[in-house]
Amino acid sequence: MGLVLEGWLLFPAGLRYNGAEVCDVGEVQIRKARIHDVEQIHRLINSYAAEGLMLPRSLSMLYESLRDFVVAQDGPRVVGTGALHIVWEDLAEVRAVAVDPAYTRRGIGKRLVEALLAEAGELGIPRVFALTYQPGFFQRCGFRPIAKEELPQKVWRDCINCPKFPHCDEVALILDLRS
Ligand SMILES: CC(C)(COP(=O)(O)OP(=O)(O)OC[C@H]1O[C@@H](n2cnc3c(N)ncnc32)[C@H](O)[C@@H]1OP(=O)(O)O)[C@@H](O)C(=O)NCCC(=O)NCCS
Repeated sequence: MGLVLEGWLLFPAGLRYNGAEVCDVGEVQIRKARIHDVEQIHRLINSYAAEGLMLPRSLSMLYESLRDFVVAQDGPRVVGTGALHIVWEDLAEVRAVAVDPAYTRRGIGKRLVEALLAEAGELGIPRVFALTYQPGFFQRCGFRPIAKEELPQKVWRDCINCPKFPHCDEVALILDLRS
């Protein structure tokens, strides 16, 4: 599966040209989110939401669920984020994974997911799923596609707030941490 459950706090990220902004970053730190990160998390998620690439989040939703979030930090800047939302005793969701366009394709998204999976492991949660428009990325993180109907009913509790409800076009994937 190739998960790195230890040593995920610090990692180097080199200079890479991706056709947009070039960021010469030294070290990007993956850590739990703090209250002063919320405005940057909000901007990052909603810039992608405006393009239809992920679901929007209000400031109030982010403050209420802040303890679910990790961030990637480059100096004062939040350059990535992601969240682990517990659904039930045996199931959690990785959600709201986003990396600043200037920092993509250098492993930050995968490190964020690994940090969230490590947290699920520490909590004793055996299975983690994702609903996403980027199934390829999650497959690279060890998830496998499943039919949405295989997910339990309680997963859909939050969907009533989604602008796409009831016409969900996201792809479901799951990862079993025990295998
Ligand atoms: C999807 C996203 C989180 C990926 O972040 P990233 O930092 O560029 O991803 P990484 O560099 O860690 O990539 C990890 C692996 O996934 C692959 N990958 C990255 N984005 C991919 C994509 N969109 N489709 C398929 N594979 C992808 C990478 O090539 C890499 O493969 P490797 O392990 O063989 O090297 C980022 O592009 C993003 O924020 N997109 C907009 C928001 C979004 O769609 N979020 C999805 C979750 S809701």
